[in-house]
Amino acid sequence: MSSERESFEPTPIIRQFATILRPDDAEPPVLARNVRESVHQWFTELQSEKELEQVNLKPRRTCIMGGPPGCGKTTLGHHLAARQGLPVVVVDMASLVSKWLGESGRNIRDLFRDLFAQIETQADLCVLFLDEFDAVGIKRMSNGSGADNERNAIVVTILQQIDRFSGTLLAATNRPDDIDPAIWRRFGVHLDIGIPDDDCRYAIIARYLSPLTLPEEAIDKLVKFTAGATPALLRQLMEGVRRDLVLAPKFKRDTSALAVFRRVITSVRPHADMTIPELWGDRKALDEVSKIAWPPEWPSGRGTGE
Ligand SMILES: Nc1ncnc2c1ncn2[C@@H]1O[C@H](COP(=O)(O)OP(=O)(O)O)[C@@H](O)[C@H]1O
Ligand SMILES: [Mg+2]
Repeated sequence: MSSERESFEPTPIIRQFATILRPDDAEPPVLARNVRESVHQWFTELQSEKELEQVNLKPRRTCIMGGPPGCGKTTLGHHLAARQGLPVVVVDMASLVSKWLGESGRNIRDLFRDLFAQIETQADLCVLFLDEFDAVGIKRMSNGSGADNERNAIVVTILQQIDRFSGTLLAATNRPDDIDPAIWRRFGVHLDIGIPDDDCRYAIIARYLSPLTLPEEAIDKLVKFTAGATPALLRQLMEGVRRDLVLAPKFKRDTSALAVFRRVITSVRPHADMTIPELWGDRKALDEVSKIAWPPEWPSGRGTGE
């Protein structure tokens, strides 16, 4: 069935300015319940064109996602596209703008117009993802400088393109509060993907500890002392633990929980702009974590070589 379907063919301009993520390697992000429900409803909506027509509605095709770096915006966009069996074309607006703003030669507006036009020809074969959208979507500035004028002109162009685009369009930003209200309104669905709560952290920690496992109380303790951590940091933490458990014995290093976590939190740290979870900020938290049942269980009961 899917083999009869035409497949997405990136044109040179798309290849030059976008990254294409294919459906095969998408992973569903762990999301708070209300976000998960909104996503699920939107997905159903996209598939309910006929029914919605009866009440004079069309499925919403545009969505803007806000949330700090590393909370799963790209992961969610990739997953949403994959659920429709489509690749996602990710355009990093920040690097596009910084590369082209103020450059003589080709006008950045032309570039966007071309890019949209090219993607439009295959709009039902891919999902378009405008990443770092604040680079073009922040509140209009008006101190009259040339760069501002150029930026405002870009915003107008992009708005026109968004309105005309017929496929599914996602945008993501770390600074939802700074997005121009007129632009915000253009998007049909607004998702706020925040820092994970306790339940989400539990699921994320367990996912990235896998295939190793720890008893529930041990994971609960990790959940407690990682409040404020992004999913990306939790992933690095738990991958760090797995990595350390394999490598430490090669150096005849101590593989106690205290030693492992101490090494991992030294090499994996929250960004200075983000909340510092207790595990990184408080020696007592590390002591508490080092009392958890240890070591993790390996699949089919393999030991850590201790
Ligand atoms: N909600 C989540 N659930 C599971 N893993 C996540 C989640 N958010 C981020 N990650 C992991 O963290 C990394 C960065 O996520 P990404 O989607 O690029 O974040 P963002 O686009 O919001 O900056 C990815 O490797 C992803 O697997
Ligand atoms: Mg991203």
